[in-house]
Amino acid sequence: MTDGPFQPGREVADALDRQDPLRRFRHEFHVPKRPPSPQPSPPQIPSPPRGGRGQGRGGDDPDEEIYFAGNSLGLLPKRTQRYVDDELEKWARLAVKAHFSGDHPWMPYHELLAEPMARLVGASPAEVVTMNSLTANLHLMMASFYRPTPERHRILLEERAFPSDDYALESQARFHGFDPAEALVRVRSGDVARFLERAGDSIALVLLPGVQYYSGEAFDIAAIARLAHAHGCVAGFDLAHAAGNLVLRLHDWDVDFAVWCTYKYLNSGPGSVGGCFVHERHGTRRDLPRLAGWWGHDKASRFRMEAGFRPIPGAEGWQLSNPPILSLAAIRASLDVFMEAGGMEPLREKSVRLTGYLEWLLGREVGDSIEILTPRNPSRRGCQLSLRVKSKTPGRTVFERLEAAGVTDDWREPDVIRVAPVPLYNRYEEVWRFVEILREAL
Ligand SMILES: Cc1ncc(COP(=O)(O)O)c(C=O)c1O
Repeated sequence: MTDGPFQPGREVADALDRQDPLRRFRHEFHVPKRPPSPQPSPPQIPSPPRGGRGQGRGGDDPDEEIYFAGNSLGLLPKRTQRYVDDELEKWARLAVKAHFSGDHPWMPYHELLAEPMARLVGASPAEVVTMNSLTANLHLMMASFYRPTPERHRILLEERAFPSDDYALESQARFHGFDPAEALVRVRSGDVARFLERAGDSIALVLLPGVQYYSGEAFDIAAIARLAHAHGCVAGFDLAHAAGNLVLRLHDWDVDFAVWCTYKYLNSGPGSVGGCFVHERHGTRRDLPRLAGWWGHDKASRFRMEAGFRPIPGAEGWQLSNPPILSLAAIRASLDVFMEAGGMEPLREKSVRLTGYLEWLLGREVGDSIEILTPRNPSRRGCQLSLRVKSKTPGRTVFERLEAAGVTDDWREPDVIRVAPVPLYNRYEEVWRFVEILREAL
């Protein structure tokens, strides 16, 4: 039977894996193992066949879980240990001298990340910097780019903004003496243009996600930035769920600033350092206020320890402190994997196919029991699908059954399971198996 671009059957999934030019990258990652003992009355779990590498399924370990939670915490690249160990070894051997000597001295270590990070988000190296955490960077960006006046002080955000963004924006409005109840305008994604047409001249800043964390919807960053600018607003983005997931062109799209974390699709480890983009147009502006620190100061004179802040041109000028090298080493390891995979374009190509396959199988096998909340158009989503459970079996029970069967995904109250097959390390065969397990669990 052929209906649509895919066909049913595990052998089809296996064939898709065999044809996948990125399949070797799975082996760059540690994949967690399934729980050792099955739960009482477990659903029938189709296991991958036993057998070593090269036996048709790219070297599966049958005990590996199906990890579809890269939208929450990406898997650990195997090389990360070596990159981090190298820095520990330098610390042991050179101690403070490692700031200036050894391979990759610590003083300019963050500069090693600029080029690959810039490639991933479509920027020039001077437009990106890896520092702090997402929310801290959002505040730093707002110190520079949220310049409210009595007439134009409102912030446009989305109805279901990630809570940390909501709190940050609320506190910024209050910090500037405005009442958040009036200053924060929360709109649905489809209403952004209409709202800006109607009241754009009251908006100082548009702050939207690249990909919405709950629904998986991708926003049209280029169109939003264009619209925001047409109405005299600054355009900033939270790319937590977009960086390492979508092809981004932040420079060409004329985004003013963007912030993201690196522990999701960028696989850099829990709480690792975040990313920040400042468009070249703003990189040397003297009129922008900023919250400054010594790591943003002119490199040539930093250690003269003199008063008088002179910012480094570009995004680096927003740095505050000397960065955590162990975290940067982990990010470097991950970025190297991305670069070896050819950057975002080939990954996105696989991602569209992998998620499309998941969507197709879900529709075919469990279409009556779940609703896909994520847009159906691949250009309006990343790799994640958000599934609302409609079956008689409560959603939470379905989620627990998936977990007991060795699937790691994520639960959002009241009835949503988010699944994110990640093109760097997930396989078509896992998608096939996931849908079989889900059918049993429902
Ligand atoms: C969309 C979004 N924004 C902001 C954050 C907060 O990130 P951080 O804890 O690094 O500040 C997260 C974290 O998961 C997120 O998903």
